[in-house]
Amino acid sequence: MISSSFTAGGVGVGLRTHDSPPVTYIKPLLTPPILDHRCNNNKKSKFRSTRRAVKAPQTQAFLLVSHSFSQSEHTAAASSSSVLGMANCSLKTTTNHLRHVESMAVLPSGAGKIPRLNAVILGEALASEEDDLVFPSDDFARQALLPSAQKYLEMYKRSVEDPAGFWSDIASQFLWKSKWGDTVCSENFDIRNGNVYVQWFKGGITNICYNCLDRNVDSGNGDKIAFHWEGNERGFHDSLTYTQLLSQVCQVANYLRDIGVKKGDAVVIYLPMLMELPIAMLACARIGAVHSVVFAGFSADSLAQRIMDCKPKVVLTCNAVKRGSKVIHLKDIVDAALSESAKNGISVDACLTYENRSAMMRETTKWQDGRDIWWQDVVPTYSTICEVEWVDAEDPLFLLYTSGSTGKPKGVLHTTGGYMVYTATTFKYAFDYKPSDIYWCTADCGWITGHSYVTYGPLLNGATVVIYEGAPNYPDPGRCWDIVDKFKVTIFYTAPTLVRSLMRDGDAYVTRYSRKSLRVLGSVGEPINPSAWRWFFNVVGDSRCPISDTWWQTETGGFMIAPLPGAWPQKPGSATFPFFGVQPVIVDEKGVEIEGECSGYLCVKSSWPGTFRTLYGDHERYETTYFKPFPGYYFSGDGCSRDKDGYYWLTGRVDDVINVSGHRIGTAEVESALVSHPQCAEAAVVGVEHEVKGQGIYAFVTLVDGIPYSEELRRNLITTVRNQIGPFAAPDRIHWAPGLPKTRSGKIMRRILRKIASRQLDELGDTSTLADPGVVDQLIALADC
Ligand code: WTA
Repeated sequence: MISSSFTAGGVGVGLRTHDSPPVTYIKPLLTPPILDHRCNNNKKSKFRSTRRAVKAPQTQAFLLVSHSFSQSEHTAAASSSSVLGMANCSLKTTTNHLRHVESMAVLPSGAGKIPRLNAVILGEALASEEDDLVFPSDDFARQALLPSAQKYLEMYKRSVEDPAGFWSDIASQFLWKSKWGDTVCSENFDIRNGNVYVQWFKGGITNICYNCLDRNVDSGNGDKIAFHWEGNERGFHDSLTYTQLLSQVCQVANYLRDIGVKKGDAVVIYLPMLMELPIAMLACARIGAVHSVVFAGFSADSLAQRIMDCKPKVVLTCNAVKRGSKVIHLKDIVDAALSESAKNGISVDACLTYENRSAMMRETTKWQDGRDIWWQDVVPTYSTICEVEWVDAEDPLFLLYTSGSTGKPKGVLHTTGGYMVYTATTFKYAFDYKPSDIYWCTADCGWITGHSYVTYGPLLNGATVVIYEGAPNYPDPGRCWDIVDKFKVTIFYTAPTLVRSLMRDGDAYVTRYSRKSLRVLGSVGEPINPSAWRWFFNVVGDSRCPISDTWWQTETGGFMIAPLPGAWPQKPGSATFPFFGVQPVIVDEKGVEIEGECSGYLCVKSSWPGTFRTLYGDHERYETTYFKPFPGYYFSGDGCSRDKDGYYWLTGRVDDVINVSGHRIGTAEVESALVSHPQCAEAAVVGVEHEVKGQGIYAFVTLVDGIPYSEELRRNLITTVRNQIGPFAAPDRIHWAPGLPKTRSGKIMRRILRKIASRQLDELGDTSTLADPGVVDQLIALADC
């Protein structure tokens, strides 16, 4: 039984409700350029870059901007130190819009220095592009939910001064069986005051599945399409209306109930992007069960690890899936995982298996009688009506495992009410969602993006969602735009890695499709480099669609820093400003908050409704990882800089996590997979710049004495990682390392390894503290072997 009730006891000191107004929040947002677009804008009805305008003499830009203030804005801004800062800064010459990132590369830090890599990725923009503002067109701003920075500022101000009132008003738009208690939110975000905990809408009784489905059906939208599903092969597609989706969810929910799944029980879902995946998630939510979706690219070992951690009553899967031209036998992976977990004393009674006929017929599927059951044989026999399990806002909704700095993944736990309100609201504003939109997010439900922005956020808004089963470049790199045209997609949300990969394949694959339905684009998972941003904007979006570059994390549940299209100009590569209720702060290595233009560690002050509540079964790790590094704040693990206009620029992880194609992978996980190979004595993994994936995995490997270094062994080591974690974690490069650079106390100096991996050999720095400085030359000599 999974609960979040750990928070109940032992708290008292430091308990903060949101009745007291919080602190500083908004100064940087009052800087001119945001407020400038009304006057500086747009004779053409297109979004456009104003690079020329702002590259004119800086003082002139400042004057121009000043004219755009209304009287009240001007007064507010004039009292803001950041405006004065702006005036001064505007006289400085800058060579690179990421000079903040560069300065971060030398930031002293207990967490390790920020790899230059991130600076390289982002810093590829031409010099002096920091002021490359891209304005929303008047046409867009006019129809936008948030048409101006001023409107945003008003709402933002209220969201941090009166979070209880702000979020209660929004929460009231959902269905609650009974309302929450007097305290809308209580929290202790400061480890020095005792247990860290967060609660939103405690005592409120609701159900997120009801709010996603029944509520939309009841309001007359039962015939609206909820899901358009596009199969791997062209020509295979399907769709479900809200009424049909509700019926299918109810059938699965009734099945789960019938086999004894109850409120609080864990259910593991290992499915590809079939509609059955969100159906399964919603079915769990309907009966109060806690789903844990495991990305169907994870290996049997990884799946077993997660099964052993959360001990599900049942696993939901399918027999196989076609990805591109390859058939992947998912059921075999589940079989192996289930026998591994059974060996360790955790046996699962039931494995509900969907027969995915486009990939494999049931006759050829391996089967264990008594445990395995075909989805199609049982689910349709259940009633299409299923009573909802009403749950407390603070009852767990799902667990999602994510990588951290150790080999053991973290079970991030989200609860119901706050997550519901937050995902719905972020979806609505960050994509400027309108009921007529057709929304496509390319993420898999195995990751948080697929939870919050394929499933819950859009459905809570009654949106029509496109789900695509296959690879985005299959059968050719035009497939995405084919799908966009086919379903008349208006909002397209994807990851920079896909943008870069499609960009490399050339514009012709894009331009042969119309794409005229598109109106908003989105990006997530890693920093989007300015050149990819521009290509996405100019080529995919025909310079017409704003890009919502959304910074957030599995832990945050929903968007934290993201542009609100229509409200302010964008800067390619910047996630811009915080969402309502989010108070980002940048701290130095001592945890001291830095004001104004700066670089440092990105933290968040006080909770937001979508905050995760704990790491399942390990509240201590939750506190240690996120709240101890900088007491008083939630530490994101990301580096960040803020420019003179208050724009936030995410610069990548500062911990031992690599972000490969937007997937978080702990270096420790890859290392432990490598050393499990009997011939590997030691391994050290670092991230390196990768043209398409953002970061690639670079592994230094020391073999057991006497074992010869060979190409075959290299391949075997890569296969070991593929088998233990999944293909997406396979190292891009194995660098033979007869010795690793270590301090005298035996600590591996990763900083040096990063430099060697990225061939920045003139930046190795001081190697005199190494136990054996000769190791470095040896590694350099082996670099291209
Ligand atoms: C990175 C994915 C820059 C960041 C939603 C974060 C980003 C990690 C962005 C979380 C962005 C995500 N700009 N970096 N727009 N979005 N990241 O938990 O390093 O899989 O900490 O959640 O991805 O990855 P996760």
